Amino acid sequence: MLKIAVLGGDGTGPEVVREGLKVLSAIASSEGFTYETNDYDFGGDRYLKTGEVLPDSAVTEFRGYDAIYLGAVGHPDVAPGIIEKGLLLRLRFELDQYINLRPVKLYPGVDTPLKDKGPEDISFDVVRENTEDLYFGGGGFLRKNTPHEVATQEMIATRFGVERCLRYAFELARRRNDQKMLTLVAKTNVLTFAHDLWWRAFNEIGEAEYPDIKRDYNHVDACCMWFVKNPEFYDTIVTPNMFGDIITDLGAMIQGGMGIAAGGNINPEGTSMFEPIGGSAPKYTGKNVINPLAAICALGMLLDNAGAQKGEAAYTRGAQRIERAVMATTPKLKSMSAGKMGYGTTKVGDLVCEALA
Ligand code: IPM
Ligand code: MN
Repeated sequence: MLKIAVLGGDGTGPEVVREGLKVLSAIASSEGFTYETNDYDFGGDRYLKTGEVLPDSAVTEFRGYDAIYLGAVGHPDVAPGIIEKGLLLRLRFELDQYINLRPVKLYPGVDTPLKDKGPEDISFDVVRENTEDLYFGGGGFLRKNTPHEVATQEMIATRFGVERCLRYAFELARRRNDQKMLTLVAKTNVLTFAHDLWWRAFNEIGEAEYPDIKRDYNHVDACCMWFVKNPEFYDTIVTPNMFGDIITDLGAMIQGGMGIAAGGNINPEGTSMFEPIGGSAPKYTGKNVINPLAAICALGMLLDNAGAQKGEAAYTRGAQRIERAVMATTPKLKSMSAGKMGYGTTKVGDLVCEALA
């Protein structure tokens, strides 16, 4: 039995999650596995009504699930940071989801802004460290609101945190069995402490444990250039949290936009959380125009991860079938953008379900 906590969240989150759950129901009956979902209404609306973002009891409850399926967070009437930090980042940290896995894959028939590039050129995975770096929250003010104000925002890299992320990325490069190459994206020429640690750990672990995987290195600025110029260079990328945040938005754009980009916040030994990375898109809420494919891909990633973690072949097969069904659906859509797909949100979900059969 697969136990999933569903957090539709804000804006279009609940609409896209509904389509993902439709696909889950179809694949579960076809593959013959059972699952249970429970809905949670955390997000901007609930915060505005009750002042509560995420009670401690919910965090404890979530640990009892195999996975969390998240729609989107972000509400126009809530100050920036409250829900993002109080819900999304808090869950990543407290559930120790130390990997943020973001595949960058151009599906058939999807437009990329990159001239003369196709699906064979854009297909790589970004492994973003998800609990450290500039995100851990250290820093503060001195002489706040005076002309002599000082603000610090600290970056950390721990040997333990970096090593576990690197090993996950090396294993992924091995499993992909493509170019068998892992690229470290960092800034060793400027961040000569934190990224020196990354660099040393990368080479030591690579040499001792993954001699079959080629090691490659890019400074983050150069990586942004290569994403646009030669995305076919990449196979698997590993990078600290902040750079991972930035380059994966660029990655989402070259794979056809936020409507198709999915990600997983993964604790390989605990409860992971999967989400479309596009945000809550308030202006499209309730109009049946938002693209549910990113959420459906996130559901596929959820199944793939649960399959690996629980050793359930039916989940893994289900994930592969969802991937193929999405690839059969993208050529039928006029665009990946909200309102321009040529179909409504629910119809796109139906198309994926039909393609599963
Ligand atoms: C993401 C988002 C979050 C992040 C925000 C909403 C806190 O941009 O998932 O990439 O910065 O990680
Ligand atoms: Mn981001």
